[in-house]
Order: sequence, then C-alpha cells, then structure tokens
Amino acid sequence: MDISFLLNGEPVSLRDVRPTATLLDWLRDTRGLTGTKEGCNEGDCGACTVMVSDNTGTRTLNACILFLPQLQGLHVTTVEGLSAPDGTLHPVQQALIDHHGSQCGFCTPGFAVSMACAHLQGATDDDTQLAGNLCRCTGYAPIARAAETARNQAVPPHLRSLAKTLPAPPKSQKPDLTLSTFRPATADALAAWYAANPDATLIAGATDVGLWITKDFRALGKVAFLNGCSDLQGVVEGEKDIHIGSMTTIAAVESALRPHHPHLSDMLLRYGSTQVRNAATLGGNIANGSPIGDSPPALIALNATLHLRHGDTRRSLPLEDFFIAYGKQDRAPGEFVEAITLPRQLDTLRCYKLSKRFDQDISAVCGCMAITRDGDTITDARIAFGGMAGTPARAAHAEAKLVGQPFDASSFAAAAAALPQDFTPMTDMRASAAYRMQAAQNMILRYFHEADGAMTDLRQVTA
Ligand SMILES: Cc1cc2nc3c(=O)[nH]c(=O)nc-3n(C[C@H](O)[C@H](O)[C@H](O)COP(=O)(O)OP(=O)(O)OC[C@H]3O[C@@H](n4cnc5c(N)ncnc54)[C@H](O)[C@@H]3O)c2cc1C
Ligand code: FES
Ligand code: FES
Repeated sequence: MDISFLLNGEPVSLRDVRPTATLLDWLRDTRGLTGTKEGCNEGDCGACTVMVSDNTGTRTLNACILFLPQLQGLHVTTVEGLSAPDGTLHPVQQALIDHHGSQCGFCTPGFAVSMACAHLQGATDDDTQLAGNLCRCTGYAPIARAAETARNQAVPPHLRSLAKTLPAPPKSQKPDLTLSTFRPATADALAAWYAANPDATLIAGATDVGLWITKDFRALGKVAFLNGCSDLQGVVEGEKDIHIGSMTTIAAVESALRPHHPHLSDMLLRYGSTQVRNAATLGGNIANGSPIGDSPPALIALNATLHLRHGDTRRSLPLEDFFIAYGKQDRAPGEFVEAITLPRQLDTLRCYKLSKRFDQDISAVCGCMAITRDGDTITDARIAFGGMAGTPARAAHAEAKLVGQPFDASSFAAAAAALPQDFTPMTDMRASAAYRMQAAQNMILRYFHEADGAMTDLRQVTA
C-alpha cells in the first residue's frame, strides 16, 4: 500500500508499506527518529506519544499501536518536531528542564509531546491530559509544575497551523475488490469490499488490533483501514435520537454526549487515557464483544440500537441482543457496525466503573443504570453490567424488583438482593466472584443514595 503524510512539516511518501508496520518502529528503525521511545508497546505508558493533526484538530496518539496506513493524509509531529527550526526549545521542554521534570529521561519525550499538545489546545486539566504518560522515577509534581509554568507562554509559530499543508485526500474510489489491503473513503466502498472479502480484519482505532500485532505477533491477512471513511464518523443529534457513527472516537463521544448524559462522559474520561480515547472508536468497543468494554453497559442502559450493514443490506437490533455469548456476537461475516443510535431521553443515567486504578485501567465491574420514575413510583428500570458475565448484560431480575415500586431504599435493597439471580460472575486477576457481586449490588444501592442527595464519590469528600 502507498501512503503519504507530513512528518514534522516535511512530506513523506512511502510505497508498498506493510499494512501492520507501526509508526513507532518506522520512526525509530527506518527514519532514525529515536526520540520517540518504546516502553510497553501496548498503549499503556505514553513513551511513544506523537501528535497527529488533520483539519479537525490535533490530538495525541500512541505510535506503538498506530499502523502506518492510518496516517494517510495526516501530519505527524514527533518530539523532534517540538523545538523551533532554529533550535529554540518548546516552552514545555524548557519548563521540564527548569522544574527538574526529568531524571532518567525515558518517559520525557512522551510527556513533552502530551504537554505540547495540551498547550496547543489550551487544555489545563493536567491530570486528564497526562494520565496516559507514566513516569517511574521523577514523580509527577515537577512535571505538573512544568506544565503549569508553560501555560502562559505562546504556542511556537511552527506548531500553529499543523493542518494547513496536508496531502490531498484520496478521491472517493470505486473499490478494487481484489485488493488485500484496502483503505476506503466511504462506507459504501467499505461495504462492497468487505462483502467480497468477509475473511478480512477491519481496523478502526487499532487499540485492540494493535496489540494483536505487537504482543501476539499475529499475521492478519486481508485488512481494511476504516479511518478514511469520514461518513462513519461523528455524532448527529436528531429530534428523536442521537446518531453516532461507528468510527467516532471515544474522545468525540465523550464531548458530544456530555450535555445529554454527563455521568457517561465522566466515566469515559476514565477510559484508557487521552491517547487511547483519541484512537479507540465506539464501533470497535462494541464489535470486539468484550465483556468488560466500558461503553456497552451504558449504551444498553440507554436503550441503544445497533445498525449493521452487509453490502447494501442494513439491519438494526437492540444493542443488548448483539452480545450472544462470550466471544460470540450477532454479526455475519462481511457485516460491519455502521452506527449506534440512542433515543433522546431525560437523563437518569448513572455509570459506575470499578477498576484497580482510577485512570488507564480496564473495569473489573462496570454498572450503568437508567431508572425513570413518575412521582415516587419507578416506571422503568434499565440496569446493565459489564464484568459480571461472558457478555455485557441486563439485570432482568433486579430491574423487575424496581418497576412499579416506590423510589425508596427498600426497593433498591430488593433489587440488589435479586442480583445473584441475574449473574454468576467469575474470579480472575481483576476481582473475585464474591467481590464482583458485592460491588455490583452496592452500585445499585449507590444509585438510590446519589439520587437521594448523599455524597458517594470519595474524591469529593473533604475532611
Ligand atoms: C492502553 C489501553 C487501555 C484501554 N482501556 C480501555 C478502557 O478503559 N475501557 C474499554 O472499554 N476499553 C479499553 N481498551 C480497549 C480498547 O480501547 C477498546 O476495545 C476499543 O474501543 C477498540 O476500538 P478500536 O477502534 O481501537 O478497535 P480496533 O482495535 O480497531 O478493533 C477492535 C475489533 O473490532 C472490530 N471492528 C472495529 N470496528 C468495527 C466496525 N465498525 N464493524 C465491525 N467490526 C469492527 C475489529 O475488526 C476488531 O476485531 C483499552 C486498550 C488499550 C490499548
Ligand atoms: S510504548 Fe507504551 S504506550 Fe507506546
Ligand atoms: S524520568 Fe525516568 S521514567 Fe520518567
């Protein structure tokens, strides 16, 4: 596959690119740009952070799980591109020096890129911006002080218009169905090619697929890169529902849904890290069928509909019906996730993610609940959990204990007590079965206490 993009302002054209070559390996091994480091090679540490720009803006991504074909038409800025052409350091680099924000220095290029991107965007929430960058030896206080210091200084001129000179987007092509690597520009082209190549692997944000390569050393065979399909991206608010294209990133979902379901957006801020949320897509988070993906329980609680497409044939189903059993989803070969729709509704959703670390960790249990009442009577209850079974699933017995009952502590206690009829969770490295059950029952009680005005978020409790 041939691709062209900008690297630190310079055009790059590559021929016959191996589709699963990562940007990190190419930068270091072929281009000699060794500033970008390899720490974990699985999206967890941020040592490989780069900035990627297009006409929608600039974001950070982890180069270790970013395949070269995903860069078509984009502008990549590495740590080598932060300083000005005359060698003047970027304000965040100077501040890291001034505040002793680097000891061994291994994490420093990744921090500098994340900080420079936040500086460019005017973002001041350092905890969020830097949660995907791990430092083992300096400690975070000097790094946070450096970010704070750099804040008041101007963005260097060479970083102000990163998307200005991007290579022209490829013309919308009639798909060549015989290609073994395909980067469609539209959902129509994808549909035609995938129907003809149903054994192919679809690559959306590559936050799962990337690890199949870097950790499992899998050979993928035929692949399609979906990030050129702009018609699969974005959130459209209709009168009755909210339509989310499958290629919408978790970061974009987080900001678009905040006015409607702020609790969901708060939870999504704990999904991976900034770099992961900038890559991962909602379609990928559903299609991978993981029992511990964070978005499915929330979307099921919101009564989401999943829209699938095979060639020119489309079908829709309630999201909860998509997950059949562990590793088994209702998706035929050659069929892909086109969109997700949510009915517009009063916001009653609460999302509780339980993981060992606050940031950058997969859920042990994720409980999402939308409970509607008329006066004091509960009229509808949708409770969905991740981490409690082989699939994300609703808690039908618990829901039944609520509907038609008064909105009070005893109804919620009855619902919590019914939960063992819904789930038999497993014990694994994240949590024991008993802990999972207890935690999930407590989430149901927590919903009532929060609605009742009790403070339940430990981070908000002050002594
Ligand atoms: C460091 C790190 C932290 C993470 N943290 C979290 C977390 O906190 N919460 C969480 O839920 N997940 C987390 N994940 C997992 C991962 O981000 C998600 O599963 C992600 O949503 C996958 O989306 P993607 O776009 O990257 O999919 P990809 O990796 O590109 O694809 C995943 C799977 O879905 C298929 N697929 C993708 N798009 C479609 C489509 N439109 N139609 C049909 N099939 C499709 C692919 O073929 C593949 O089988 C984390 C991953 C990493 C690396
Ligand atoms: S090397 Fe750790 S996130 Fe890429
Ligand atoms: S400076 Fe050593 S890991 Fe951060």
